[in-house]
Amino acid sequence: MAGGTTMYYYGGDYNPEQWPEEIWHDDVARMREANVTIVTLAVFSWSRIQPAEGEFDFGWLDRIIDLLHDNGIGVDLATATASPPPWMHEKYPEILPVTREGVTLSPGGRQHYAPSSPVYRRLAAELVTAVVERYKDHPAVQMWHLNNEYACHVHADYSDNARDAFRAWLEDRYGTVEALNAAWGTNFWSQRYTSFDQVLPPRIAPASSNPGQMLDFRRFTNDSLLECALMEKEIIRSAGATQPITTNFMGPWPAVDYAKWAPHLDVVSDDAYPDPNDPGSFRTAAFARDLMRSLKPGTPWLLMEQSSNALNWRPSNAPKAPGQMEALSAQCVGRGADGILFFQWRQSKAGSEKFHSAMLPHAGTGTRTWREIVRLGGMLDSLPTFEPGSPAQVALVFDWENWWALDNPDHPQNRLDYLEVVTRWHAALQRAHIQVDIVPPEKVGGEHRLAIAPVLYLMRDEGAAALKAFVEGGGTLLTGPFSDIVDGQDHFLAGGFIQRLGAILGITLEDFGALVPRDADEPGEREARVEGAFGDAVGELFAEEIWLDGAEAVATFSSGRRTGNPAVTRHQAGAGTAWYAATVLDDEGCDALVSHLAAEAGVEPVVAGAPATVDASRRGDVVTLINFGQDDATVAIGGTDILSGAEVDKVTLAPFEFAFVKELAQ
Ligand code: GLA
Repeated sequence: MAGGTTMYYYGGDYNPEQWPEEIWHDDVARMREANVTIVTLAVFSWSRIQPAEGEFDFGWLDRIIDLLHDNGIGVDLATATASPPPWMHEKYPEILPVTREGVTLSPGGRQHYAPSSPVYRRLAAELVTAVVERYKDHPAVQMWHLNNEYACHVHADYSDNARDAFRAWLEDRYGTVEALNAAWGTNFWSQRYTSFDQVLPPRIAPASSNPGQMLDFRRFTNDSLLECALMEKEIIRSAGATQPITTNFMGPWPAVDYAKWAPHLDVVSDDAYPDPNDPGSFRTAAFARDLMRSLKPGTPWLLMEQSSNALNWRPSNAPKAPGQMEALSAQCVGRGADGILFFQWRQSKAGSEKFHSAMLPHAGTGTRTWREIVRLGGMLDSLPTFEPGSPAQVALVFDWENWWALDNPDHPQNRLDYLEVVTRWHAALQRAHIQVDIVPPEKVGGEHRLAIAPVLYLMRDEGAAALKAFVEGGGTLLTGPFSDIVDGQDHFLAGGFIQRLGAILGITLEDFGALVPRDADEPGEREARVEGAFGDAVGELFAEEIWLDGAEAVATFSSGRRTGNPAVTRHQAGAGTAWYAATVLDDEGCDALVSHLAAEAGVEPVVAGAPATVDASRRGDVVTLINFGQDDATVAIGGTDILSGAEVDKVTLAPFEFAFVKELAQ
């Protein structure tokens, strides 16, 4: 999918409207110096493109697109709908979004629109139509960029626009108000509806809102944003534009189910801002990269935004260490990206992001940031592209609907952070240098030999069936704790817990045994020690009471109220094996279990015997190795070091150093 003159996309958001036109010539000269191939234009340009309703000013945009094209630089052209211009709220204040508490969000920042507002949608459609008609045949335009970071600031809108659209969405989903009542269990707390017109978004109420209403509102919010994106996509395609279409994701973002979005996009792209101060952030970054690779299997993705150096929006904004930005960029390439872009090209001189670093810093080209930007551009310019990304042998189940259901209050354990638990398993797999696909349960199968499905509380019937078939067909599954508790509607199933997977797991579950978090200032059991075949570990948050019903106990609890009870179980089912963990294991426990499970399932690591702080990933026969540790690291691997051209039987990497090694045929 690569464009421009090189094989990788390289560039960033470019906001030329913030600068006098004479600066533009310096911009493109510097872009060439840095080997920039593409810039994202017009993300926040609505007020400049359309100064009043029905009035368009494309002159400046024509000139900059032509100038870029004359210099061999491509354009990822935004539809510019992410931030409505002042005339819109002046004339149509009803487009503004409203919080759950009933506060209308004012203009003056960005993203101040209600996604289901018919007025916003009409005006957005007019804008997109005008932009696409004008530029669809321009040879510089290589990609379309829908809106920007959907739901970044407004995670959900509770306005009357949302109310009306939510009612229509529910009517479409359930058909009758009786079906809605059944789905939401409205005989509880006198919530029975007699008309869809009585239903509201789950605005702040005196007590917890109905969990079915909350879950459906998350689904509705996702769908209403996706409708906006698909409206723009439809305009682009019906105008005859053929360039690939993307929108920038934000890693595992809670508000939007990217697994549902990805099939509608030609290219998956992601924005990533790991905290330079956090030594573990390269692990959470790795999770996001694997998620992007998994959203569209076999297709390269793009890093659409990262920072060249410090941010402006954390409480304290540390600079990136020398080499850290390039190491994080290499991590994207290794995990399937064919492009590295930044927010933004030239650092703003005014506005709330003026302290946000950029490719071309405010202090100019005599800076470390600029040297690193030029060096990275040069590196990508010389790097061959690799196969998109090998299918992994391990599936890590990550499911937005489950996340949303877990986020609701009134559970046995209300301090569970689903993403934290899933990324904990991902980090253990990363330390073991095992390549992972991150998928919803329905996507487990194919090349996968091992599936890990932590805290899969909400399990749709299709997901449960896929996991069962996976085990019966010879796969190894680990799930638990607090898994297979409710169906897709957040209802218990008749007969107790673990109703779909209990038979293959060979256990029953009686009680959840919630633990108090270790750092909480309150009485109660804080952790449960676990002893077993894979060593000792510590469990948190749950110490469930499970009973063996065919399974063997691989580990037992050795402290607290569950002492002597099974903590980790294993059961042969069909041609495979199903494991259950009755607690949230700490890192040591996850590491030990991963090595057990991988051995049992015959999973091959990308490299064997590398230090845990080396990040390893595979694209075909190319292995990317990055040292995120504090000390030099040596990895035994035979092949060609692509950057140096040297034949190697091992590579030694300084902190933040990386290598792409084309392996010798085995
Ligand atoms: C997001 C936005 C950008 C910019 C960056 C700053 O990713 O898409 O416009 O605001 O954050 O980090």
